[in-house]
Amino acid sequence: MRAKILPFTPENIQKAAQAIQEGAVVGMPTETVYGLAGDSQSPLALTRIFETKERPTFDPLIIHVNSSAKNLYELECLRLVDASKLSADAQKIADQLIQRFWPGPLTLVLPKHSNVPELATSGLQTVALRMPQHPIAQALIAESGRSLAAPSANRFGRISPTSAQAVAEELGDRIDWILDGGNCSIGVESTVVSLNESGEVLLLRPGGVPQKQIEEVLGARILIPTPDSSGFQLPGPGMLQSHYSPSKPFRLLPKEVLQLKLSDLSEIKEEIGSLSPQSLIGLLTLSGDCEKKADHLRKLVQRPVLAAALSEKGDLQEAAQALFSKMRWLDASSATFLVAEPCLVQEGLGHAIRDRLTRASARH
Ligand code: TXA
Ligand code: MG
Repeated sequence: MRAKILPFTPENIQKAAQAIQEGAVVGMPTETVYGLAGDSQSPLALTRIFETKERPTFDPLIIHVNSSAKNLYELECLRLVDASKLSADAQKIADQLIQRFWPGPLTLVLPKHSNVPELATSGLQTVALRMPQHPIAQALIAESGRSLAAPSANRFGRISPTSAQAVAEELGDRIDWILDGGNCSIGVESTVVSLNESGEVLLLRPGGVPQKQIEEVLGARILIPTPDSSGFQLPGPGMLQSHYSPSKPFRLLPKEVLQLKLSDLSEIKEEIGSLSPQSLIGLLTLSGDCEKKADHLRKLVQRPVLAAALSEKGDLQEAAQALFSKMRWLDASSATFLVAEPCLVQEGLGHAIRDRLTRASARH
């Protein structure tokens, strides 16, 4: 493996910042997931981000900004946003969202400044911005003196990394440095919202900030865009149907495991039936009672089952934090076919967990 995992020291931040200034890309922890960071102004760095991830260039990047940029005016001074394209109402809303949720897991899609390279926004006239809360991300932005474009540090379509080791598994042979920030505290990506000229807020991706908290600030409902209403012809990867996928077949169960009857499994029965009787089935459960659930599924599918729970007590925060690492663990296990319990909670982080499980289990 080429990549070195660097602990959080001033020297290592300097080393990584210098690499960024030279146009290299670096693995960077954030509170949501690890990012693959590069100078958002450097065409070389942007090209490297797309190449390293094997990401199609039609998927725009999020630019991570310095923790001093706490309003629209500052973002305009950084030549990231063109606030004149927003109505006075929309400007006010943007400032309210920034003040309430930055630094933190909220990404705002705003009209872009002409200075932002087209490659970063995939030719869109909008730019996605976020101020990460993680001290290492903040230190790297400050030390390099750059705003950092950073998609999640996984190969395109794969499971997002929530530890330095997971970045190494994904991209360790393609990059030199991964800053080690331990396990990400939130575990799912930022919530992405866009703001149109008149100040309507659209939810483009559920994530670390619950929809309800944003609606509290707005005093209004967020719109959930259909392809027509969003105004974007090109979907981002977060909006692609299939994403965050393990390398093995991964299917969402129709019910909680203990409620399952054989007749509920009609969709996957054939797939499992074609596996040898010794094939191990990986089971991802939302809450504990793993052994009981594994036992129940074992009897239904007549195959051995290996289970992992996202949270023993069914706590959503704990479940979100564990989601990608447990998916990764099952993917690396000797199980050949993976299934997951559905997340039945719509609220808060449940929304993001449901979204990721649904996309991860979408057939390619
Ligand atoms: O938590 C996060 O947001 C992580 C960490 C590293 O900050 N980053 C992340 O980046 O998830 P990525 O590239 O995996 O996802 C970025 C999402 C995609 O769904 C992309 O389509 C959307 O943001 N996006 C970026 N720019 C956009 C734009 N101008 N309009 C609409 N969607 C945009
Ligand atoms: Mg991603």
